[in-house]
Amino acid sequence: MQRLFPRPGPGATDDSALDDPLGLADAYAYPADRAAGTPYLRANMVGSLDGAARAEGRSAPLSSPADMRVFGTLRALADLILVGAETVRQEGYRPAKVRAAFAARRAAAGQPPAAAIAVVSRRLDLDFSAPLFTAPAVPTLVLTGAGAPDGALAAARAAGARVVVAGEGDAVDPARAVRELAALGFTRLLHEGGPRLLAQFAAADVLDELCLTLSPLLTGGEAPRIMNGPAVAPPSRFTPLSILEEDGFLFTRYVRC
Ligand SMILES: NC(=O)c1ccc[n+]([C@@H]2O[C@H](COP(=O)([O-])OP(=O)(O)OC[C@H]3O[C@@H](n4cnc5c(N)ncnc54)[C@H](OP(=O)(O)O)[C@@H]3O)[C@@H](O)[C@H]2O)c1
Repeated sequence: MQRLFPRPGPGATDDSALDDPLGLADAYAYPADRAAGTPYLRANMVGSLDGAARAEGRSAPLSSPADMRVFGTLRALADLILVGAETVRQEGYRPAKVRAAFAARRAAAGQPPAAAIAVVSRRLDLDFSAPLFTAPAVPTLVLTGAGAPDGALAAARAAGARVVVAGEGDAVDPARAVRELAALGFTRLLHEGGPRLLAQFAAADVLDELCLTLSPLLTGGEAPRIMNGPAVAPPSRFTPLSILEEDGFLFTRYVRC
């Protein structure tokens, strides 16, 4: 993997550090200058050259080994991974892996061995017998609104899920979700989509960072972009922090100005 931006200056470490899991983690470290308890929400998405957020119904055909390394690194740095219920259903989400390479780093940061996953859902039509709920290293959360169906709430709790209410009706309010998660001690947040959920978080102006992998593939068709929902109005300006490259894939990291 090579760093394209910022251009290395005198005394810069060479790019070989990016091939080491901990070196890549350093390149994606959460900002250290935030007051204790302040949440930071980054999103990680992959898009094709022509802007598609999926191919053949999934994101995997757009990905690459290096993209999976970045994906795993961002997970290893996070306290909690937010994901929309449709992505969980379509991609068969499993618990985040405990990875030996990051054990010491996570322990030093006061984090459990793996990030928790928080599924955002109104209907809670989820497979509560799946490993995501029955075998996570840390309990999976379900984020929903106060009007969620009682039976499904009971099923979620019976499966060991931690239910967090973050909305008055059946929908989760993104700003409230971030606040509720921070109050539970989850401040290093990672949003993994999908496009319908991510659009709402961006429109609510709670997205601090976007890690976008630009995949060198043209897909055409009618796939959504990485955000598919309410407009960000007025458009919100982000600035590039870094751009890495491997095998024609660009790994961009943009932060809110
Ligand atoms: N390119 C990428 O990086 C990337 C990343 C992730 C996913 N994807 C792809 O995106 C597709 C799925 O994405 P999607 O946009 O269709 O769905 P999604 O955003 O993953 O999930 C939508 C679901 O989330 C729940 N939801 C959304 N907003 C909510 C709110 N405000 N409050 C409560 N629940 C809410 C609802 O669940 P209920 O129906 O359960 O109520 C809704 O049906 C898949 O094809 C996946 O492969 C691509």
